[in-house]
Amino acid sequence: MKALVLSGGSGMRLRPFSHSMAKQLMPIANRPVLEYVLANIRALGVTEIGIIVGDRAQEIIDFAGDGSRFGARVTYIHQERPLGLAHCVLLARPFLGDDDFVMYLGDNMLPQGVADIAEDFAARRPDAQVLVHKVADPRAFGVVELDVEGRVERLVEKPEEPRSDLGLIGVYFFTPAVHEAVASIEPSARGELEITDAVQWLVARGADVRASEYGGYWKDTGRAEDVLDCNRRLLESLEPRIAGEVGADCVVDGAVVVEAGARVVRSRIEGPVIVGADSIIEDSHIGPRTSIGRGCVLRRAGVAGSIVLDNASVSGLAGLHDSIIGRNASVSASARPRLVIGDDARVEIPA
Ligand code: TTP
Repeated sequence: MKALVLSGGSGMRLRPFSHSMAKQLMPIANRPVLEYVLANIRALGVTEIGIIVGDRAQEIIDFAGDGSRFGARVTYIHQERPLGLAHCVLLARPFLGDDDFVMYLGDNMLPQGVADIAEDFAARRPDAQVLVHKVADPRAFGVVELDVEGRVERLVEKPEEPRSDLGLIGVYFFTPAVHEAVASIEPSARGELEITDAVQWLVARGADVRASEYGGYWKDTGRAEDVLDCNRRLLESLEPRIAGEVGADCVVDGAVVVEAGARVVRSRIEGPVIVGADSIIEDSHIGPRTSIGRGCVLRRAGVAGSIVLDNASVSGLAGLHDSIIGRNASVSASARPRLVIGDDARVEIPA
């Protein structure tokens, strides 16, 4: 089996971060989403990985390289414009050949992995096997209707009146039967070749399409709130480790990681918290459920439930919560508030 990871796209919903970085590289507990994706794929024993890349190709290539760091061999497939998930399969045909493959959206987090579903697919080998998750608002999803044996009877994209609460999520197992489907469908109203249309095409022609309900935690990290939610969730299983310096004048509670070269002085760290390499925390209260990247400086700061990206700084400001602070950004208190903020940024301050 091969893997196809989708790491192109436009990432509009993750602005402003996607203005300056590939959304698949957003850090969750200080590791890029794509790292979790590649680890999950390797856990299936898959070593041949194709990665679809778009405008931000170079950053993805800089991160994943030839794949050897992950024990895999990576082939990059360039997509000029984000023309849809099924378009990615079309483009990847020379790489995929006639092998079965797992298609994995590069911004989807499934921390418990998909090994059991991969085994089930390999054992029964239906034409396709999709993952579904019980979702609160199925109207925002591709909704799957199943028969009593778990075969997909119908797939409806964002239905107004959903007939089930099972939404399609970002991992799909395919046999080569999908290639005829992606070559046969037409672009949707939004101009994309939709993978839901390709799967529905298979269903309509009597193919054996199965669905497995994913019971673990799942998150599409497409929006800032989702990134934060996922970060808080993953920090719950943080293994404590202090490699940096923590002063005797500090209070450290719960699971805390302080990476090498980081320094914590006169502060309270309320885990779970991870402090990246070479960061400085002084006179601050950090946590719970907070990730601080590398090279950050936090002085007289109070930050909870948040993500601070590399080389950002916060000073003189308590009570920051559920925030994402971008790379090299600086947030500080001032008697005369002044903002220099980038496009599509969002700021909430006391009225
Ligand atoms: P989406 O999140 O559905 O699309 P997007 O990245 O364009 O985001 P937004 O809606 O916020 O603008 O994409 C899911 C994953 O698939 C994501 O990792 C990007 C990737 N993708 C491609 O590689 N090529 C494509 O043509 C599309 C649509 C997505």
